[in-house]
Amino acid sequence: MSTETLFRRIADYASRADPYPLYAELREHGAVRQDDGSYLVGTYDEIAALLHDPRISSDRRRRTVPDALGPGQDDVPPAFIGLDDPEHDRLRRLAMRPFGPPHSPGRVDALRGEITRIAGELADGFADGKRIDVVDDFAYPLPVTVICRLLGVPSEDEPRFRTWSDSIVAGFDATPDEDPEQRLRSATEARRAMALYLGELAESRRGHPTGDMLSALVNDEGPEGSLNPIELMTTSVLLLIAGHETTVNLITNGVLTLLRHPDALARLRDDPALMPQAVEELLRYEPPVQMLPQRTPLADIEVSGVTIPQGAPLILVLASGNRDPLRFAEPDRFDITRPDNQHLGFGSGIHSCFGAPLARLETQIALTTLLPRLGDLRLVEDPPPYRTNQVLRGPRHLLVEAAG
Ligand code: HEM
Repeated sequence: MSTETLFRRIADYASRADPYPLYAELREHGAVRQDDGSYLVGTYDEIAALLHDPRISSDRRRRTVPDALGPGQDDVPPAFIGLDDPEHDRLRRLAMRPFGPPHSPGRVDALRGEITRIAGELADGFADGKRIDVVDDFAYPLPVTVICRLLGVPSEDEPRFRTWSDSIVAGFDATPDEDPEQRLRSATEARRAMALYLGELAESRRGHPTGDMLSALVNDEGPEGSLNPIELMTTSVLLLIAGHETTVNLITNGVLTLLRHPDALARLRDDPALMPQAVEELLRYEPPVQMLPQRTPLADIEVSGVTIPQGAPLILVLASGNRDPLRFAEPDRFDITRPDNQHLGFGSGIHSCFGAPLARLETQIALTTLLPRLGDLRLVEDPPPYRTNQVLRGPRHLLVEAAG
């Protein structure tokens, strides 16, 4: 079949459970032009180089093809994930002040006890003999509760922002046979509603800080000043969405992959100190962010002998780079002791994941909490039903029950 339709085949829901053979095909061709003029890149070295190349823009306003978060679609400007330096750098540093080093080195680690408690309570709900949906009963509520605590968003508002979040995330979805315009409109409306909601919440903390990140973002002024009200809204939306839509998939993929690999599971149960390495291997082997859907070259750029023209939408398939045999030995093997595992699961370069320390901690604690139970569980359905989204990929449900 023609490589021109490769992205359509990847986006096809039938490929969701196992897109990896299509990624292998992509790697054979280097940079692949699609019939809509966009380009796909799936080899490790090329993706890494492009992610470090200042001629590759993340600025949504430079896009030639409108998307859910783009200009003309939306009166709310992009968050820093959709901006280039120096704007990106200023906003990322302001957002980092209350989150991580050098100003707040203890913020993530301070959550350790609470994450362990929440994971334990959720796992206690796994009564013997009962069928469990790992997604709805564990992997979704854990990161949502944690990001709410971190930001200072009341958990009882979860049903409201879940609907917005679903619409925003559906905006990245290119699954064929749906109404793309309606999807973009819903995503834009949801993003605006969530921005207003978080903006009001943050404003209510002005002068009345409650120890959370929204309070810090609205009250603390560093040498570089602070976020203006619009920046505060776009940053909060980004943190709330990025803070849970991805981690749920990493935890779920972790359970699925360990149940499919009993040897790795047994090894981890014998030696739980391997958990940090196992989580890195999961980020390589089944990364929740499969691809970065649209970068824009600011000049003509040559990749593997193909010239990608200035302005052409560029899709970097991280999950394919993670299985590149030129970079990883036996890339299709799940190996929790893999050395030199510099995967692309958190991206690379200036936009590499802001929340990686939190995502790692949550997933390590989540899987460690489940470890004693996993040996007695079996998958009810394999492969499980997946979400439609090919960018943020993961099971929609993962039913498990007592083995035997
Ligand atoms: C397993 C969970 C996670 C995965 C796989 C993941 C993955 C990624 C990836 C691949 C990027 C790069 C995007 C790009 O280059 O355009 C990214 C960026 C980002 N992530 Fe995560 N992420 C996760 C969890 C989190 C969490 C928990 C937070 C927030 C607390 C977060 C906040 C962000 C932000 C704000 C950015 C934008 C960084 C920038 O533009 O400088 N992520 N993430």
